[in-house]
Amino acid sequence: MRSRRHLLTRLASVAGTAGLAGCSRSILPTAGTELGLPPNPRKLPERQHAQKEFLRTDGNGNPIAPRHHTVLLLELDATPRAESARTVERAMRTIEAAYEWRPEGLFHMLAWGPSYFERLGRLDATPVRRPENHSRTDDPRLEDFGAALVLSSDIPSRLRTVERAMFGSASSLGGKPVDHRLGEVFAVAGRRTGFIGKGLPAEHTDAEGIPDDASIPEHAPMFMGFRSGLSETQAGEDAVTIEGGILNDRFAGGTTMALTHFTQSLSEWFRGLGDDDRAARMFSPEFSPTDVTDFADSVPFSDQVREHATEHDIVGHHEKVAQARENGKPLLLRRDFNTTDGGRAGVHFLSLQESIDDFVETRRAMNGWYVRDDSEAITDRNNNGILEFITEVATANFYVPPRPDRSFPGLQVEE
Ligand code: HEM
Repeated sequence: MRSRRHLLTRLASVAGTAGLAGCSRSILPTAGTELGLPPNPRKLPERQHAQKEFLRTDGNGNPIAPRHHTVLLLELDATPRAESARTVERAMRTIEAAYEWRPEGLFHMLAWGPSYFERLGRLDATPVRRPENHSRTDDPRLEDFGAALVLSSDIPSRLRTVERAMFGSASSLGGKPVDHRLGEVFAVAGRRTGFIGKGLPAEHTDAEGIPDDASIPEHAPMFMGFRSGLSETQAGEDAVTIEGGILNDRFAGGTTMALTHFTQSLSEWFRGLGDDDRAARMFSPEFSPTDVTDFADSVPFSDQVREHATEHDIVGHHEKVAQARENGKPLLLRRDFNTTDGGRAGVHFLSLQESIDDFVETRRAMNGWYVRDDSEAITDRNNNGILEFITEVATANFYVPPRPDRSFPGLQVEE
């Protein structure tokens, strides 16, 4: 992994050669000091997306995700300038002062969307771009927000408390006064809420798309009954962090985020299929439900998608998306969670990756269009992983800056 010192040396030299030293705050990310603020008093990871070393693990060393999630989708309500950036930075520090950086406290990321960079007139020079439709059967809303505040915690009330302090009028947060609010700069344009973890799906069975019998296993961590996020099926935080480079130095140390909303049809999933069918569709026809239960920290798949299509007329979700691996490693760090937003069962598929291209490649691998040549029974939705049971509703892309550059990344501060 590149060291922070190495990064700063590289950034300083690029700033010098480009004649930009002292002019662009994103070239020299010094924790808000270039905005005229004192250094951030909290000692927190440089990456806003750093969580892994703070998470608990299960008996096999797999990280356990925070249980409750909210993503606030934001529109910029102020002119991009130093004063707005100072307000945002002070507001984010207010959240940081209130809660520890751990699941029992709060994790947060402030991400920025294509329309923000468009407003700065430099969308083409950023790692983010507007989303596209990658499905032939679904017609998702292609969304473009100015920014997104991603919150996650094991304590559900914390998410609403932060929202009220940042966008409402609550005068204190975690016992500390609130003097600066994100609501001074942003308006909330949408909310995505949800949960992941043992027992939570079974507590949310009153939504549309969920069978009214007790089909959802009591202890399942996800609506579809399986667990997700085994160590070896995830990209690491280093791997999804944007490397420096001539074009990327300005954005180095950050990552990109894709956020896609799927609704789920769980009645058909549980009533129409047996345990074997569900394991085959989620993973691969080579696995039995017992095999799946026995996975420790990896999915030991045989990498025979086309053979499975020919022999079984079914291909699994996992074996398809794993085709997008590079050097044996997945490209995405998935932080998806279940939802009942809109009164309907679903998934907010939130993933971090170095490049939006990595997301697109994996999303297309999930389509599995090529396996239609190997089996007439496989269509764009039928017998094709889990596609028959999910519908893509909306999708959006963001850039997640490193913490020192989180307030108006890419803004030239000259005041
Ligand atoms: C929407 C409903 C979805 C559900 C319920 C779901 C569920 C799962 C499950 C259970 C696994 C295997 C276990 C594990 O994670 O360790 C998995 C793996 C994976 N999924 Fe999904 N997934 C969904 C959507 C997506 C989407 C939209 C993408 C990408 C665009 C995706 C990409 C992946 C990747 C990259 C892996 C790991 C593959 C590897 O090991 O290389 N999934 N998913």
